[in-house]
Amino acid sequence: MSKTAIITGATSGIGYQIALILAEKEYNLLLVSRNKEKLESIKLNFEKTYKVEVDYFVSDLYEKHESKNVFDYAISKKLNIDILVNNSGYGLYGEHTDSSLDKINNMLNLNIIALTELCGYFGNYMKQNNSGKILNVASVAAYQPTPYFAAYGASKSYVLNFSEALAKELEDYNVSVTCLSPGATKTEFFTVAEVGDISGQMSEKNRMSAKKVAEIGVNAMFNKKLSVIPGFKNSFLAFSNRFAPRILVANISKKIMNKG
Ligand SMILES: NC(=O)c1ccc[n+]([C@@H]2O[C@H](COP(=O)([O-])OP(=O)(O)OC[C@H]3O[C@@H](n4cnc5c(N)ncnc54)[C@H](OP(=O)(O)O)[C@@H]3O)[C@@H](O)[C@H]2O)c1
Repeated sequence: MSKTAIITGATSGIGYQIALILAEKEYNLLLVSRNKEKLESIKLNFEKTYKVEVDYFVSDLYEKHESKNVFDYAISKKLNIDILVNNSGYGLYGEHTDSSLDKINNMLNLNIIALTELCGYFGNYMKQNNSGKILNVASVAAYQPTPYFAAYGASKSYVLNFSEALAKELEDYNVSVTCLSPGATKTEFFTVAEVGDISGQMSEKNRMSAKKVAEIGVNAMFNKKLSVIPGFKNSFLAFSNRFAPRILVANISKKIMNKG
């Protein structure tokens, strides 16, 4: 029976590129996002181009119980689930004290709660099968405080620590968990986050392609790596943070995040 990969946030950016790579590898797909038209068009396009079956589940993952609905749907379809990619997520840019707390809550529900619940449901399923792979998308923002992206960066620190801990718990059941922490990547992310013009490390010319980031993430997942940061500069910065005083790291991060 063909294997299935479940991918959240597959309608654009990194998630779309991950879906494309897995379709090329002839994985059947269950795609989860809010935009039905885009999901339908990806389904038609992939099924025409690759030897795969593509299904989708339209879902606002920051709504309560949506993760359970995704899981119940996947089980009802009797899919042979081998991969879960938790990629859906977004950031909100600006001073935390000026931000809408409803918007912040929605973001945290998506970036943290939905991911945690999906790992619980599908991780348990994989554990029972003694087989499976989970790829969680964090960010280089996980590796230091990120002023002006305060709650977003902290949500990704959660994803990083949660994923690495879960990896250790599930390794005894032949289930791998890999955390992908991209740096600035050419996707809709900066528009959704309403960052506006930004120079320096996050400027458009310094962003990696979503295709490259997806390739690095998928390779790391198949190689059962614990964590991966695409790009030498991004890895070096995350690594060097460990040895610098926290006040220095916070000051540099403020400069970078405050529009370069
Ligand atoms: N781009 C970067 O610089 C960067 C850097 C580090 C980490 N990341 C992380 O990479 C991941 C993918 O982001 P991206 O850069 O590829 O951005 P993107 O192009 O904006 O894609 C985000 C995806 O998440 C989905 N999504 C958003 N809200 C959702 C919701 N409420 N329920 C279900 N799905 C939802 C979107 O689909 P719908 O709109 O159809 O729902 C879309 O497919 C995110 O977790 C992001 O934090 C991005």
